[in-house]
Amino acid sequence: MAPIVSGFSKLSKSDKIQWLAQHHFNNNTDAISIIKRYWNSDEKLQQLHDEFTENTISNYYLPFSVAPNFTINNKHYTIPMTIEESSVVAAASKAAKFWQNRGGFTAEVLSVSKVGQVHFNFFGETEKLTSFFEQIKERLLASTEHITKNMQKRGGGITCIELRDKTAEIDHYYQLHCTFETVDAMGANFINSCLEQLASTLQKEALQFPVFSEKEKNIEIIMSILSNYVPECIVRASVSCSIEELPKTKELSSEQYAHKFVQAVKIAQIEPYRAVTHNKGIMNGIDAVVLATGNDFRAIEAGAHAYAARNGRYTSLTSASVTENTFLFSIEIPLALGTVGGLTSLHPLVKLAMQLLGNPNASELMQITAVAGLAQNFAAINSLITTGIQQGHMKMHLMNILNQFDASTKEKELLASYFSTNTVTHSEVVAQLQKIRNPQT
Ligand code: MEV
Repeated sequence: MAPIVSGFSKLSKSDKIQWLAQHHFNNNTDAISIIKRYWNSDEKLQQLHDEFTENTISNYYLPFSVAPNFTINNKHYTIPMTIEESSVVAAASKAAKFWQNRGGFTAEVLSVSKVGQVHFNFFGETEKLTSFFEQIKERLLASTEHITKNMQKRGGGITCIELRDKTAEIDHYYQLHCTFETVDAMGANFINSCLEQLASTLQKEALQFPVFSEKEKNIEIIMSILSNYVPECIVRASVSCSIEELPKTKELSSEQYAHKFVQAVKIAQIEPYRAVTHNKGIMNGIDAVVLATGNDFRAIEAGAHAYAARNGRYTSLTSASVTENTFLFSIEIPLALGTVGGLTSLHPLVKLAMQLLGNPNASELMQITAVAGLAQNFAAINSLITTGIQQGHMKMHLMNILNQFDASTKEKELLASYFSTNTVTHSEVVAQLQKIRNPQT
């Protein structure tokens, strides 16, 4: 067991590594050399990465990939994706190409509001608090002006403050429920700074409110924080085509394909066990774009899944239908994304990702990201209702298995060719590799 350490964050990077080597890796030099192998030789760049978080000892690579051929609202995009799962980028690219020949994707932002709350206790009469709130509302807003000034110039700011009585659920508990528009910023810091200022003004004003008793004057702030639940920050993306333009296979006509596809989505709408996996597949595409563009994928994940459960049952984020001769497939998802602030101006690869997308504003990035999710879901359902998921998945996983066995370039070439017409399974890859290495066995 490692000993408890104090002051670890104050050690130099090399002392931190020494400590880890001594207490976790038995002074094994291999561990140290792995940590150092991932350092960037450009010291300035390394320092930038070191300073993103505390106690950084190395870098953790994820692939930075691109999925070309996306047409969204008649504009062409190559979408950057950061993800480790082998088949995700290939699936997105395949779906992009398929829909490119059928008019591409359509996307629109439906709403852009974000929410933050000051949670507090008030020990007194609700009517008095309501009247106090109405009298100080303007002063509350005015007290945030030094924070909101620049945001207002860009068209954003605090759009609404409400007092909410939550005493039916928790004694004495109320909220300032605030709505924000943050334009091209994700806005977490902006929102939290506004909320902390509102909380402080609320307390100060209460102390001076003559109608309040001594008890009522002492408002107790529990916390002030933005919400990652953003059901009013919604983007919609869709594709449609005539039934004949859908794929057909040996077993399925295009019409049968359409109906099977629609049923697959309906199953995700009514069956939470399926819905979670269905949405996970959507998030494969969404998270990959969110990460590549330097946004907060945990916030996006939390908000998306909460939205999927907004009606009391966890359901699909996508819908599909066949009306007369038209197949329609769409997604509606909350995506509070930013294209300024945060990592966007700091991380060189994030800057590059934004450039690749033509430096979108937040609304455009919401649309692009929703499309990546829809494309991913299309690709997954397409596989699930035809060949099954493993065929494509294992094909893409082949290189991972070969790398596990240190396959040479020549071995990889031979086996990629062999498995282009044979089913990839872990045991078959190992067997074929052994055959190449020991032809006589
Ligand atoms: C795998 O990462 C994602 C899928 O399971 C999604 C789905 O089942 O729809 C293929």
